[in-house]
Amino acid sequence: MTTQHEIILETKRLILRRQVIEDLDDLWALYCDPDITKYIPDAPRSREEAQEELEWHMHGHPKHPEFGLWATIHKESENFIGRCGLLPWEIDGQNEVEVAYTIAKQYWGQGLGSEAAQAILQYGFEKLNIPRLVCLIDGDNTASKKVAMKIGMTFEKEARDELGTFMIYSKQRE
Ligand SMILES: CC(C)(COP(=O)(O)OP(=O)(O)OC[C@H]1O[C@@H](n2cnc3c(N)ncnc32)[C@H](O)[C@@H]1OP(=O)(O)O)[C@@H](O)C(=O)NCCC(=O)NCCS
Repeated sequence: MTTQHEIILETKRLILRRQVIEDLDDLWALYCDPDITKYIPDAPRSREEAQEELEWHMHGHPKHPEFGLWATIHKESENFIGRCGLLPWEIDGQNEVEVAYTIAKQYWGQGLGSEAAQAILQYGFEKLNIPRLVCLIDGDNTASKKVAMKIGMTFEKEARDELGTFMIYSKQRE
């Protein structure tokens, strides 16, 4: 029996769908690249942790099943090329929803990160009616800052949690 794929959204070159357990090899391969995890302080550090993360996102966040990290599939090659989505956080006592994106290195620089992020932003604002979205970015992560700015976010402030300092980019729904 083949696993049913629940599609969340589609762009010109990408399909974003709920993760399924068969994605584990691809997801773990993504996290084995130090250039990917460099700016993701809470990235899984073992295959077991990657599986825990995957299982968490198979059904969405327990309190917000409409959020989650979705398998990002390159339509042309049908490859799993990343995990992107929406994540709920509490920052400085405020509930926030993050537009999160990670694309495998061999696919960088083709506009795919921005394409995914733009579609997720639009989905968050228009389908889920979220009034404000943020990107949480390491100060040295130039590519991620560019993606955030390309989707209309602006730098708001620096914040800190137990994993370190990060920058908050934000955008209000129009
Ligand atoms: C951030 C990320 C998703 C961008 O993906 P991408 O598909 O390469 O993004 P795009 O092709 O849409 O590029 C967006 C911009 O960043 C630039 N860029 C891409 N890779 C870059 C790099 N390594 N260094 C500097 N700039 C870079 C692009 O040139 C583009 O800018 P431009 O339009 O001015 O030319 C990808 O680099 C990634 O997955 N990084 C590791 C995980 C990560 O850091 N995620 C974000 C955590 S906040």
